[in-house]
Amino acid sequence: MAAIKCIGILTSGGDAPGMNAAIRAVTRTAIFNGFKVKGIMRGYKGLVFNEIVDFKSQSVSNIIQQGGTILKTARCKEFQTPEGRKTAYENMQAAGIDALVVIGGDGSLTGAGIFAQEYDVPIVGLPGTIDNDLGGTDSTIGYDTALNTIMEAVDKLRDTASSHERLFFVEVMGHTAGYLALNSALATGSEAAIIPEMETEVDQLAELINHGFRKSKNSAIVIVAENPKTGGATALAERVKKEFPQYDARVTILGHIQRGGSPTAHDRILASRLGEASIEALLQGQRNVMIGIRNGEITYVPFSKAVSHDKPIDRNNLELVKILSI
Ligand code: F6P
Repeated sequence: MAAIKCIGILTSGGDAPGMNAAIRAVTRTAIFNGFKVKGIMRGYKGLVFNEIVDFKSQSVSNIIQQGGTILKTARCKEFQTPEGRKTAYENMQAAGIDALVVIGGDGSLTGAGIFAQEYDVPIVGLPGTIDNDLGGTDSTIGYDTALNTIMEAVDKLRDTASSHERLFFVEVMGHTAGYLALNSALATGSEAAIIPEMETEVDQLAELINHGFRKSKNSAIVIVAENPKTGGATALAERVKKEFPQYDARVTILGHIQRGGSPTAHDRILASRLGEASIEALLQGQRNVMIGIRNGEITYVPFSKAVSHDKPIDRNNLELVKILSI
C-alpha cells in the first residue's frame, strides 16, 4: 500500500450534532501526524462534482460547539452509480487525496464499502447519525444530543398534557430503529414507547390502552418511533379516536428539530475520541472499517457489520418504561 500523505474528510447523509467536533478532531489529529487534509463539500457530491478545499488547523476553529456540519451534507444519487463513483475516484486522485474519513450513517457507510471494493482507497468511517442504528458502537455521534432535545420537548408537552388531561403521541425520528423512542421514553417517564422492533410481535397500542397504564391516570405521553409503513403517531391517534374515543388524543411530530442544536458534552467527547482514532487506524494500516466505542474501548467494525442492523434494542428497557409508569 502506498504511503498516505493526504486525507479527505466528508460528512454525508442526515446531519448530526457533533459532526463538527468530529471534523475538528480528524483534521487536527491528521495535521498533528504530518498529513495534509482536504475538506470535501456536500458529502459524496463534493467528490463527484469536485468541490474539494484545503483544510488547515484554522479551518476547524470555533466549531466544536456548533450543530450541523461546516462541510455541508447531502444524499448523493450520482455516487450510487458506477459512473458517479468513477468520477469521484478520478477527482480524488487529481486532488491528491490518498485516504478518506467518511462521517455518516448507514447509507453513507454502505457507499463507502462499495467505493472501497471498487477502488483501492483506504476508507475509515465514523458513526454520525442521531438514529444510533450502527452496529459495533454503543452510541453514534449525535444520538445523545437528539435524546436530550426530545427530552426537553417532552418535558414541556407533559405540562400541557397534564393540564388538559390528554393522551399525547409524540413522534420521534430513528429511521427504522427505536433507540431514540425507547430511551427518550425512559428519560421522560413516558407511559410507553412504540417502536418498529416490536411491530410484528404485539399490537402495541391495544396492549397499552388495555393493560399498559393505570386507568386513573388522566394524561399520558407515548413516544412513537417514526414509521412510514404504519403511519406513526398520526395513524395511532386516528385509531384511538375510533377504537378508544374516551381518550382525548393529540399528536406532536418533533421532526428535524431533533437534528439540530449544540452537541452535548457526551457527543463532543465521543466525536473527539472517534476522530482521533480514525487517524490512528489509518496509521496502523486499517481500512474499510468504522470506528466505534464499546464499553469505553475503541473498536474497528467492518462496514458490512456496522450497517447490518443487528444491534438489538434492550428489551429490559422496554419493560422498565412500563414498570416505572404504573
Ligand atoms: O438518519 C437520520 C434521519 O434524521 C432519520 O432519523 C430520518 O428518518 C431521516 O434522517 C430524515 O431524512 P431527511 O432529512 O432527508 O428527511
